[in-house]
Amino acid sequence: MGATPIYAAIKQYCEENKLRLHMPGHIGGRGIKSQPISALAAFDLTEVTGLDDLHLPQTAIKEASLLLAQAFGARESFFLVNGATSGIHALLMSLQTSSGKVLLPRNAHRSFYGGMVLAGTSPVYIPCQLDPDLGIALAVGSQDIGDLLAANYDIEAVFVTSPSFYGTCCDIGSISRAAQAANSLLLVDEAHGGHFPFHPAYPQSALHDGADAVVNGLHKTLPVLNQGACLHLGKGFGQGARVFSAYSLLTTTSPSYPILASIDLARDLMIESGEALLDSAWHLSREYRGKIQAIKGLHCYNEQELRRLGEVKEVDPLKLLIIPKGLSIDGFELARLLRDSYHIEVEAADSRFILAMMSMFHERPDWEKLYRSLEDIAGRYTGLRKESIKTELPPLPQVELLPRDAFFASCRTVRLEESKGLIAAELVAPYPPGIPCLLPGELISSEIFSYLDYLRKSKVRLQGPHDPSLNYIKVIE
Ligand SMILES: Cc1ncc(COP(=O)(O)O)c(C=O)c1O
Repeated sequence: MGATPIYAAIKQYCEENKLRLHMPGHIGGRGIKSQPISALAAFDLTEVTGLDDLHLPQTAIKEASLLLAQAFGARESFFLVNGATSGIHALLMSLQTSSGKVLLPRNAHRSFYGGMVLAGTSPVYIPCQLDPDLGIALAVGSQDIGDLLAANYDIEAVFVTSPSFYGTCCDIGSISRAAQAANSLLLVDEAHGGHFPFHPAYPQSALHDGADAVVNGLHKTLPVLNQGACLHLGKGFGQGARVFSAYSLLTTTSPSYPILASIDLARDLMIESGEALLDSAWHLSREYRGKIQAIKGLHCYNEQELRRLGEVKEVDPLKLLIIPKGLSIDGFELARLLRDSYHIEVEAADSRFILAMMSMFHERPDWEKLYRSLEDIAGRYTGLRKESIKTELPPLPQVELLPRDAFFASCRTVRLEESKGLIAAELVAPYPPGIPCLLPGELISSEIFSYLDYLRKSKVRLQGPHDPSLNYIKVIE
């Protein structure tokens, strides 16, 4: 094992077996030994001497941050203990022009909305590319971004998501050149790409391709505890102090040391064995994508197909998009069968596909189990597929009020049928993948209304609406 300053400091503290006269109240699990919490509590410490301070890092956290920055090729890196969400919030809060205009894709994660409310951002949405078969947004294009930058001279930052939830990456190099030419910053939500810098066969990291700042949701793809994430600043980024103030403003003064230590350990593991682990996963992915593709009735997407729209530059090989194209069941049923009959839980399902998220820690028997289960299901459900409802994304929204103004406005609840022509006061995001179809402050046009009606009928899991069955919706007074 290499240097892991935070983990080492915690371990030393625990070994010294001190009488803990400080927070947290579980005092390391003593006195509650019979409870499962005691096992979790031992490493759960606070900013005592030797364990540094996330808000004024000088020793263990400072050293670990430098190592983190080195590992990711950043000028500076910050530990996040509230997921990629907190990094996205901090970046939006760090911007400073009076226009507050930011270019962002409509398929941005819902955490962008929170960031816009906090920061008073004025969003300008980039159209998304839709895959015609999958009905999902895969990437945004540099040409669209260039056009929007030319039409809006006062955009302070372009904030894109790459990779998408489905593992498809934008052409960050071209987007970065377009942003630079317009004197705008390029910020990237790379929540699902924390593993990219550690193997050349995986997509290039956004930082490498010219992004000014990047957020990685490390817990999504690396061996990091839930909520562990990081925020990196690019080598030429000149507003580090503003980002740090926003980060410090938004971050708890009681960060979870187990989360910090897990990031520290994962970074060390990735330096030591990340390439080998990712290599073996890459080979397994190539082999099993081919095997799944060969199952009659199933289609497993490959990189060329996902790139056919032109805006997708690279693809994460560990995200498997599988369509039951020639089966009598849809994606929801396929996911349910995998769960109920084969004890396999996939990351997401839609009427058209399932998304299986593989990790570098899945071994051959895991891939084999998925393959055999799919083969078995395909053998049992041959025949004509039921007609599925089309999953079209809604057209670009009409923003009537800034997200922040809408958030603080008075609202009332109406029946969905009465909402056409009114301004939404709540978020509606089918989840996964968490792409909002409506944000507070946006007009419920007839097209949006039809989409809401589709969501209600299809019983997709929704995040945001007060009434999850969507019979009622909140609108601005
Ligand atoms: C693309 C994307 N960005 C940001 C987030 C937020 O990440 P976290 O849950 O770590 O806060 C998610 C979560 O799923 C995501 O998919």
